[in-house]
Amino acid sequence: MSTNSKTFAHKKPSVYIKTYGCQMNKLDSELSIGFLLKRGYTFAEDENDADVILLNTCSVRDKAEHKVYSQLGSLRDQKEKNPELILGVLGCMAQNEGDKIFKRMPHVNLVCGTRMFSKLPELLEGINGTNKRILAIGEDGEVNFDRLVTQRQNRYNAFVSIMRGCDNYCSYCIVPYVRGREFSRPDADIIDEVKSLADDGCKEVTLLGQNVNSYGKGLSGNVTLATLLRKLDSIEGIERIRFVTSHPKDMTKEIIEAVGELPKVCEYLHMPAQSGSDKILKKMRRQYTSAHYRELVEMAKSLAPDIKIASDFIVGFPGETEEDFEDTVNLMKDVRYQNCFIFKYSPRTGTAATEFPDDVGEETKKRRNHILLDLQKKISTEENRKMVGKSVEVLVEGTSKSDAGRLSGRTRQNQIVVFGLPEGSNQSNVSSSLPGKLAKIDIVDSTDLTLFGVIN
Ligand code: 5AD
Ligand code: SF4
Repeated sequence: MSTNSKTFAHKKPSVYIKTYGCQMNKLDSELSIGFLLKRGYTFAEDENDADVILLNTCSVRDKAEHKVYSQLGSLRDQKEKNPELILGVLGCMAQNEGDKIFKRMPHVNLVCGTRMFSKLPELLEGINGTNKRILAIGEDGEVNFDRLVTQRQNRYNAFVSIMRGCDNYCSYCIVPYVRGREFSRPDADIIDEVKSLADDGCKEVTLLGQNVNSYGKGLSGNVTLATLLRKLDSIEGIERIRFVTSHPKDMTKEIIEAVGELPKVCEYLHMPAQSGSDKILKKMRRQYTSAHYRELVEMAKSLAPDIKIASDFIVGFPGETEEDFEDTVNLMKDVRYQNCFIFKYSPRTGTAATEFPDDVGEETKKRRNHILLDLQKKISTEENRKMVGKSVEVLVEGTSKSDAGRLSGRTRQNQIVVFGLPEGSNQSNVSSSLPGKLAKIDIVDSTDLTLFGVIN
């Protein structure tokens, strides 16, 4: 971006980005900021100070799109006061809604789809000083994985995209339509990126993809998630490796063995079940049965005994009876997840599930949602209670968000740990030297979401 153009002549243009949705979106926002910083932009901490405001959006449920429309509505005043402000909508909802966004929100300047992030500098340049509107949702845009400038929320953790898109077409899901075909990134590029993150002080990488278990499809040689994990495990400086999201239909013994055997690969699986009923799983086109899912959980627990599992569930999918719902409740009870994300079914235009009537009423969806939330809370509370008296390895992240006098970090199983320092220690020295290091913490208390401890 040339920084001497009309609107931005006075200073380096500043950009504020607000991210909705999943970790993939967080990474896309980081990469987009990277592309822009490289071209002379600065990063605005506050939207009121920004020359460019970008909303990186999610389409997975109707509610996510409503939130963005309402945020755009409330930015109208700011745009009226400062007509030179550039307002852009990026990502899944941009891809999904296209120029409908301009029709509903004429003060928006840019609608930029999921394969156009790397073109952001040119797109903004085209708008700068003209206040025109640009729609950029072509499907031929390249998927650019490059991390041009490091712009991470936390020095010690980084997301690394290993694949893009999804070919699964689960019947309820809009992702394959807005993110496109599945595409795996060459393993040599991933290894290079992780090495340079390690050189930059990063200790933990989370490999991202809509379905990381099918990583390698389309690449030459016998490249799989298991072979990738084995190569990444030997990179010096990296202490922990995580990967999300796992699809049960593509989970293999080799991947689970890698989790059990490799010292840096953390004992944590986010493996969404979605439902415990075979009838519903079939209608969802998930391509596994509840029995197969349970076998995978058993295999994981036997090959990686410390493993903790997380899941997503959808309640109120078309045709879900009380009996189907009971199957889900029983699955949750039997697996005893570490944590679960529970969603009420939300029909998405264009997906296969819209051929079924959305016949589970809102009240029933709400009730089932609450039942699962309460049950998971009970399980998490009980499981965390079992940790009291134990000592755990924590990667220290920094000061606790809820208590500035304490530090926080995560266990290998992704549990949040808040801890104080022993009395008499030089608090400020230790507080500044610990982030980024592994520490042994003795757990003394717990809630459903957090473990509390003292440093050992
Ligand atoms: N309605 C409700 N939840 C959905 N998810 C995906 N599509 C829908 C939908 N149409 C949930 C799934 C997925 C998570 C990211 O969002 O549980 O795993
Ligand atoms: Fe959506 Fe299914 Fe792909 Fe996950 S695996 S992104 S739920 S289509």
